[in-house]
Amino acid sequence: ESYDMGGHDTYMHKEIHEQVDAVDRVLRGRIDDRFSTVRLGGLNLDAREARGVRRVKILGCGSAYHTGLIGAQLIEELARIPADAEPASEFRYRNPVVDPDTLYIAVSQSGETYDTLAAVQELKRKGARVLGVVNVVGSAIARETDGGVYVHAGPEVCVVSTKCFTNTAVAFALLALHLGRIRDLSVADGKRIIAGLRKLPEQIAEVLGGEEEIKKLAAEYANAKSMMFVGRVRGYPVAREASLKLKEVSYVHAEAYPASELKHGPLALIEPEVPTVAVLPDDDLLEKNRATLEEIKARSGRILAVAHREQEKADHTIVVPRNEVELDPILMGIPLQLLAYHTALALGRDIDKPRNLAKSVTVE
Ligand code: AGP
Repeated sequence: ESYDMGGHDTYMHKEIHEQVDAVDRVLRGRIDDRFSTVRLGGLNLDAREARGVRRVKILGCGSAYHTGLIGAQLIEELARIPADAEPASEFRYRNPVVDPDTLYIAVSQSGETYDTLAAVQELKRKGARVLGVVNVVGSAIARETDGGVYVHAGPEVCVVSTKCFTNTAVAFALLALHLGRIRDLSVADGKRIIAGLRKLPEQIAEVLGGEEEIKKLAAEYANAKSMMFVGRVRGYPVAREASLKLKEVSYVHAEAYPASELKHGPLALIEPEVPTVAVLPDDDLLEKNRATLEEIKARSGRILAVAHREQEKADHTIVVPRNEVELDPILMGIPLQLLAYHTALALGRDIDKPRNLAKSVTVE
């Protein structure tokens, strides 16, 4: 991709639409169908070392941290290694215990975010093995890490990250599949995930094809006093990222919560002027998520659902195509990028340069 606007009014819109090709690119040349495995040339972690990993800790900021949450779930699900993600800044300020059997992964679009870079440097000082999942080739984090995966999203100009978020989540799926296949993921499951990954570009195009509908929904919700975003397990990082997207670009206040946390306090905020965006993949938690919709409705809350089929309890549903459940977070985030974009447009915001923000935060 180039810096040419190609008929789009903003970089954000252009980059959202570039995701079809970008996802195709992150997959290209990396799948080995003979063994249902993945080739990640720059990883610098051999099979013996990968089998010795006891824990994975992912570090990043903002959207990169959110892809880390998706990455940690993928690594636990596919490779059965305990994994979690933490904001890089929090990690480096709390004098963490650095464990030799933990694989640390720094995530960054720019590869220059100061907090993430400082976390990498602290880890290296203490002898940890640190990999990078980075977009910009040759950036500081790419250079300082021991190896890693480039996400090949192409240049991302808009301050608000979209295509890089999606590509990073796909890169994590590849890494999780790679680790899984050298541990105990079956050939059949490897094949299933590979087929799911290959379907993504076409399915992203399908989601983007629904843009007019999402634009109408954005107009309907743009005057909300605040928006609540909820999801359970696979839906939760999607809700967090969508809430960040909306705040950054439209300045509409938004909160993200795990759906099960609503009744522990945030339910008090629900009223008709505070609609909820609920992310409901068709997985084993769907019934629990539907019960959450009932709780919201009982408080006169309006609901916009992102799901694999129409949700009766919701006022509106954006239906996304089905894929393998493990990959649901990748696809379900995309309509919510469009929702943030069209909300900002309806409110007349400066989409590519939201107030008070910089593309990469290279200072402490
Ligand atoms: C994303 O929309 C944000 N602008 C921001 O949260 C960003 O993801 C964060 O600053 C990290 O940047 P990086 O990926 O370049 O490290």
